[in-house]
Amino acid sequence: MSDLATLEAEILASIAAAADEAALETVRVGALGKKGSVSALLATLGKMAPDERKAQGAAINAVKDKVSEALNARREVLKSAALDARLASESIDVTLPVRESPAEQGRIHPLSQVMDELTAIFADMGFAIAEGPDIETDDNNFTKLNFPEGHPARDMHDTFFFHPKQDGSRPLLRTHTSPVQVRAMLSQKPPIRIIAPGRTYRIDSDATHTPQFHQVEGLVIDKGSHLGHLKWILAEFCKAFFEVDNVTMRFRPSFFPFTEPSLEVDIQCRRDKGEIRFGEGEDWLEILGCGMVHPNVLRNCGIDPDVYQGFAWGMGIDRIAMLKYGIADLRQMFEGDVRWLNHYGFKPLEVPTLAGGLST
Ligand code: DAH
Repeated sequence: MSDLATLEAEILASIAAAADEAALETVRVGALGKKGSVSALLATLGKMAPDERKAQGAAINAVKDKVSEALNARREVLKSAALDARLASESIDVTLPVRESPAEQGRIHPLSQVMDELTAIFADMGFAIAEGPDIETDDNNFTKLNFPEGHPARDMHDTFFFHPKQDGSRPLLRTHTSPVQVRAMLSQKPPIRIIAPGRTYRIDSDATHTPQFHQVEGLVIDKGSHLGHLKWILAEFCKAFFEVDNVTMRFRPSFFPFTEPSLEVDIQCRRDKGEIRFGEGEDWLEILGCGMVHPNVLRNCGIDPDVYQGFAWGMGIDRIAMLKYGIADLRQMFEGDVRWLNHYGFKPLEVPTLAGGLST
């Protein structure tokens, strides 16, 4: 074999043996680079006689072409092998669970969710949000609301009282959100349109009662307000809140010292294997108390009952949260069990709106 043929065979063997692109590049530089073996041969052509140069030139260039071709072919093979290896090592198991980002890990308590939902609904109707303190005066919680001293309705409230103050007054944990009505009437001029969601307290504990619970109060005071308005507001609220097209409501006569007449409202429902559906069925579920604000209450709060009238309602938030989200035991709501919260809670970035959906 001529020297040239040996050189060619050697280079082609090294190309075939190159295990990766870096090794191949080393072979290329060794053959075709400036100081490479084939380049060195080409450099000898200049010193040859013309005939010899012609023959040798053609032979060396043929080797150069073959080497280039072999290099390109081997490079393609190595490239696709490298890609295959990378794809194999970087493959993803799409059946693995997705880890949530930290911003999505916490959960909104169903009660906070329901408060956000009802705030969205009533805000959309033009109600403002009012607040009052958990520790109230006897006067705001009872007397101004037309509970006479010694009236049995006071006892029905199972009140947590604090020790009497020096002046004899007894602060208490508010037993309902109705004192916020009083605060609103004392501090604002009519027309008044407020809702007041918040914590309330009574000495009571079983599967449907906890010593601390939540109510939302509603109050409208204006010159021409009447029960028809109240009925419409409550129906619209129920439809929006329970996310149904129709609700049937039943108004029953009742008694509250601060309203006259007083009513209790039931909504029609069907209980089906532990699930409740609204707007159909034969059952009735009590959801709130309401009525026209008693003239004594208006008077107690500095509003002339001959000019203004109004209506009010009070609803248990825990109860409607349990109804809507199928929570069986009220006490679980306040146990702070993170497993319970992960099950019943809501994603923090999904804020309830009427347009975007309340609970999707
Ligand atoms: N405060 C009442 C309760 O806790 C609920 C209630 C009934 C509120 C009638 C009202 C109302 O504003 O008009 O039992």
